[in-house]
Formats: sequence, structure tokens, C-alpha cells
Amino acid sequence: MRVLVVGSGGREHALVWRIGKSPSVTDLFCAPGNPGIARMATLVSIPASDKEAMLDFARRERIDLVVIGPEQPLADGIVDRFESEGLRIFGPSRHAAKLEWSKSFAKEFMARHAIPTAGYRLYEAADIAQAEEDLRSAAYPLVLKADGLAAGKGVMVCTSAEDGVAGVREIMQNRIFGSAGDRLLVEEFLEGVEASVFALADGIRAITLIPAQDYKRSLDGDQGKNTGGMGSYAPSVHVSETDLLRIRSSIVDPVIRGMSNEGTPYKGCLYVGLMMTDDGPKVVEFNSRFGDPETQVVLPLLKGDVARMLYDAAAGDLSAWGHQQVPDPAVEGAVCVVTASTGYPDSYEKGIRIMGLADDFAGDGIQIFHSGTAAAGKDIVTAGGRVLGVMAHATSGGIEAARTAAYRAAGKIHFEGMQYRKDIASKATMNVDTPR
Ligand code: AMP
Ligand code: GLY
Repeated sequence: MRVLVVGSGGREHALVWRIGKSPSVTDLFCAPGNPGIARMATLVSIPASDKEAMLDFARRERIDLVVIGPEQPLADGIVDRFESEGLRIFGPSRHAAKLEWSKSFAKEFMARHAIPTAGYRLYEAADIAQAEEDLRSAAYPLVLKADGLAAGKGVMVCTSAEDGVAGVREIMQNRIFGSAGDRLLVEEFLEGVEASVFALADGIRAITLIPAQDYKRSLDGDQGKNTGGMGSYAPSVHVSETDLLRIRSSIVDPVIRGMSNEGTPYKGCLYVGLMMTDDGPKVVEFNSRFGDPETQVVLPLLKGDVARMLYDAAAGDLSAWGHQQVPDPAVEGAVCVVTASTGYPDSYEKGIRIMGLADDFAGDGIQIFHSGTAAAGKDIVTAGGRVLGVMAHATSGGIEAARTAAYRAAGKIHFEGMQYRKDIASKATMNVDTPR
């Protein structure tokens, strides 16, 4: 197969890395990619947003499978466009991806299909006075969400009426999340531990993959601001076998069935962001694509020809793969530590030279995934807030061994202002002693 991966971050680097190991793959391209990906695939300089140029390239190069990384092209209908030309593409149609690009659609869909999630109320732009009044007298904590895509932001956890009313004004009046603030969701605050589960779907059935843990806050001990994700590990200790069966039967299967029955079958990766509550797993959010940086730790645990699996999903027939991912028995766990630029998730400098990348990490189960890097002459420099994902997977010694290896490798890399969390997959943040 000739495969094209679309995107340019750590998630796409992980996809390229894993797809490149698939026996069925003969040629691998990535558009636009990054300098890390360039070592594993032929880069094509077409931006992810340019559907028509991407389509021309795929036709000209006789691409057998296109795999979409980021959400924006999905929301823009890239899958619909490629499928209308008879190309195989992994990802949901624009209408199916609505589970991510409209939080209100996702909430109403879950209500229609009795899928467990936080209780909510939806306000339209005209309801702003009503929203303020309700929030003045509500019980707290509560969660405010802007409706549309807001680049992983768009969510405020409010602890007082003051916060709540101010939040409504920020989102609906001051439009701090832009047009995502056309509609506002007010949600019940869910208590528990979060976890991420991916399901690969072919429109009528799905395979659930191994649960992963994401670390969203910028600082150790889950302090600091919300980010795109500062690290991850898999398998998550917070999701038992029984939980996973429940996630399948109460969430994944009803979503796939519901989307199919409503005429918008879901193909691609369904990312289920979960809160593990005392009442069982509940949905915090859906994404219509692989998560970043969870992909970097879930893919190393996947056994088999992953490119073939994605192809079968795109072709509408995953029946050969069962219901649940068969873990690779040779891999006990994976940990990814994200190294970020000082200032992230707010403003930060770019163009800083990265040292230590040339070190030979091979043999330790280490893979450095590039997220925000660029080539500058012979150097690799920073080009984003999240710069690298240092991933280690362990064949023995479990998560602890993977964690030690990942931190050892991170310690060999350096750029001015580099910062990373020191507690990814540590016993304390894994809460292994917390009874559930
Ligand atoms: P989202 O973009 O919907 O994933 O929200 C971002 C983060 O806000 C989540 O990862 C949670 O930490 C938090 N969050 C969102 N919704 C809720 C909720 N209903 N209850 C508690 N925390 C939430
Ligand atoms: N890790 C969270 C996300 O990909 O949205």
C-alpha cells in the first residue's frame, strides 16, 4: 500500500512511525509533516487545509490509503471530498465529525441515545440574559463550554456565581473563543479521574484500543494551566477490564449504532474522553480523531498490521479484527513525556536550537516524536509550544521501566527554555493506591 498521513504534529509522527512498521506498506508520505517525520516518510509540502491540492497529489501518486490526523480538515469535509472521488480515507465525514466540532450536537446525540455524560443546559446567543440569571443562582462547581472547535480550549470550570456570570460574558459577549461562543453549554461538574479510550470504527462496528492517561495541566501535581497534553501513558491504571466492557456497551457501541441509524455512519477514530465516576464511566467529550499525546503511547501497544487495520476501517469492514485490541504481548507499557517551550500554553519563543537529538536512542524502546520543530540549515529548532514527545515502551518492568527510560532520554535533550513535567506516570499521579 501507498499511504499518505495528513498533519504535522507528534500524533502524526507516531502514526507515521507505526504505519511504517506495517508489512503491507510499501511507500509512506506525510503532508506537510515535520523534520522528525522526514526521517520516516517522504514529506509533501501541502498544508492540511488544502483539500484540492491534497486530492490531486493522492490521485497522481496513486495513494491507497489517506489517514487524517487533525480535526480541522475533518470538520471541513476532507473525507467527504476524497470519498466522492473514490479514494480510501481514514476519518469521519464532516457530519460524523460533528461529535467533536459541535459540543451541543454531541450532548443532544448522547441524550437521544441514553449515553452516560454530565447533565447540561444549552443557551443560544439570544439567551444570554437567561444564562446570566441562571448562573447567578446555580449550585457550583459548574462547567462552561463554548460550542465549537476552540483548539482544546473553550472550557471553564467555575466554582462560584461570580465566576459563572463572568464566564458567560467572556464566552458569549467578549467572544474570547470567537464564533465557538455562539452557543454556550453549562454542564454538571463530574468528579473522578479522567481517561482516554480510542475506538476504531468502520461505520457499523468498532474495536476499542487500550485505555490511556493524558496529563492536561502544565505543571507537576496537575497544577498550572490546561494544555494540549504534557504527557501520557498506557495502559491506564484507572480503567479495569470491567470498566472497558462497560465503556464498550454503554458508550462506544451506542455511538456507532446511533450514528449509523441517524444516517451519518462513523468511520475513523472515535476518541472518548471519560470521567471515571462513582456511577461508572461518563463521557466528558468526543473527538473525531486520534488524541495527542495519547496516540504516542497507544500505538506502541498495538499488535498487527496497523495500516491494514486503518484501511479496513476506511473500507467499511473491520470484521476480521474482533471487538477489542489485542495487546502486543511483547510490550508492557508506554510513557510519553512532552518537552515544551517556556511560556506554553501562553506565548513562547520559537526558533531555538535543539540539542541532543542526534543521540542514538535505539535499542531502549525510545522514540522521539516531533510536535513543534522546524529545520534551520543543519539544525532542528523549536517551532511550537509542545516541541517533542519522548516516548519509551518497555518489554519488561512495566510502566515503571518505560517511565525511567523516557526520563533518561528526555534528560539528554536540551534547548533553551525547555520545560517538562517530572511526574508523568509517577506512582503519585497514577493514583495506584486510590481504591475505586
Ligand atoms: P474538554 O475540552 O471538553 O475535554 O474539557 C477540557 C477539560 O475540562 C477536561 O479534560 C476536563 O478536565 C474538564 N472538564 C470538561 N467537562 C467537565 C465536566 N463536566 N466535569 C468536570 N470536568 C470537566
Ligand atoms: N489529548 C487531548 C486531545 O488530543 O484532545
